Amino acid sequence: MKTIIEPFKIKTVEPLTFTTREQRDVMIREAGHNPFLLKAEDVIIDLLTDSGTSAMSAEGWAGIMRGDESYAGARSWYRFEETVKGIFGFKHVIPTHQGRAAERILFGVMVKPGMTVPSNTHFDTTRANIEFLGGRAVDLPCAEGQNPNLPAPFKGNIDLEALESLIRSVGPANVPLVMLTITNNSGGGQPVSMANIRGASGIAHKYGLPFYIDACRFAENAYFIKLREDGYGDRPVTEIVKEMFGYADGCTMSAKKDAFANIGGFLCTNDDQLAAEERDLLILTEGYSTYGGLAGRDLEAIAVGLREVLDEDYLHYRIRSSAYVGDRLNKVNIPIMRPAGGHAVYLDARRFLPHVPPLHYPGWALSVELYLEAGIRAVEIGTVMFGYDPGTGVESPAKMDLVRLAFPRRVYTQSHMDYIVEAVDLVYRRREAIRGMRIVQAPKFLRHFTARFDWI
Ligand code: F0G
Repeated sequence: MKTIIEPFKIKTVEPLTFTTREQRDVMIREAGHNPFLLKAEDVIIDLLTDSGTSAMSAEGWAGIMRGDESYAGARSWYRFEETVKGIFGFKHVIPTHQGRAAERILFGVMVKPGMTVPSNTHFDTTRANIEFLGGRAVDLPCAEGQNPNLPAPFKGNIDLEALESLIRSVGPANVPLVMLTITNNSGGGQPVSMANIRGASGIAHKYGLPFYIDACRFAENAYFIKLREDGYGDRPVTEIVKEMFGYADGCTMSAKKDAFANIGGFLCTNDDQLAAEERDLLILTEGYSTYGGLAGRDLEAIAVGLREVLDEDYLHYRIRSSAYVGDRLNKVNIPIMRPAGGHAVYLDARRFLPHVPPLHYPGWALSVELYLEAGIRAVEIGTVMFGYDPGTGVESPAKMDLVRLAFPRRVYTQSHMDYIVEAVDLVYRRREAIRGMRIVQAPKFLRHFTARFDWI
């Protein structure tokens, strides 16, 4: 069958609030033209993030009721730990309240001022946590990943040659670990191939360095490997996941993505000494080592979600549904990062608005226009997010100016997807009249969350 259907029935619904263009005009102005500062109820379709926004299943909610809230050694903790170990295969599991807490603990133990942490592309919280400790976060995306218009199967890959030459040039003693983000969120939600994971792991280990995976969207990445990499078409996703993580010494994970949970995360390692230090830090700021800032019910929900996300019918639908939006936009020549990512479709704002220079934030302007047009909230991943160096105070264009349409898991149906396509098309038709933006007020770190903007 060609028709895409959701592999679930819906038993609980949440109403959408419809607004008029006039109302949205007032609301976005009051929010300083920053979609992060809008009230969620003033948004019709919220594509700001796929993080913590998933719909849980009946089984997930049943897990919530089963949650054991004992302070130490809760039943829910053992279920969580067993599930994580069973899927990822690491020796130590450290629960955290979300992904960035895992990052802070990992880097807090491993990164010293002046050290360099290479990655295919660091997510913004990952980068900020490294920089906050005085380290340097270096992105080494592969060449095809930097050309939005070039379709290629694994645009999330790291440039292996650049990785090795960076390690040599700064010296392995100044590299605490090598990381790979799968899928590569800031690089367009693009997958990393098994060959590239193996290659990056091989280089890290050649220099005696630990190799870590930012595992947020591990199941989507594994499914892309199944679809696109030779030799994996007949392998179950669970086995592909085992192989991926078998090359790594540990991982950070936000359970708000590929675990369907509304909150949660974890950090894994095979290193006993590191695990002991990480648990000490965990107890200091997150909580005891068998809950790490989560309620027992959250641990249960994550354990259920981690199994559900590996269901291949779900992954098939998930990847097809993003591809559907990508294909339809492509068909009418709307510039997107090609091919569509797993959790999102990324509009290429530089080609969408070629008359708006990068320092006038074309991605930001486009995200505001999508809200005005149809009440859709999207996020700029471009010069506002990455163009400012808090160390030097210098602003320069980011590698790309993208607008991410991130799809919450199991939340929107195929007709919502049609609405999104129509809205983007309407904005595209009047693109020539769209102006750039300037920043009126901004903080030093992570400015995209709170900066205020106005039209130029
Ligand atoms: N790593 C990646 C690749 C991410 O996408 C995120 C979060 C994190 C780490 C941090 O996890 O939010 O649980 O602390 N990404 C969200 C997003 C916020 O919208 O892409 P967290």
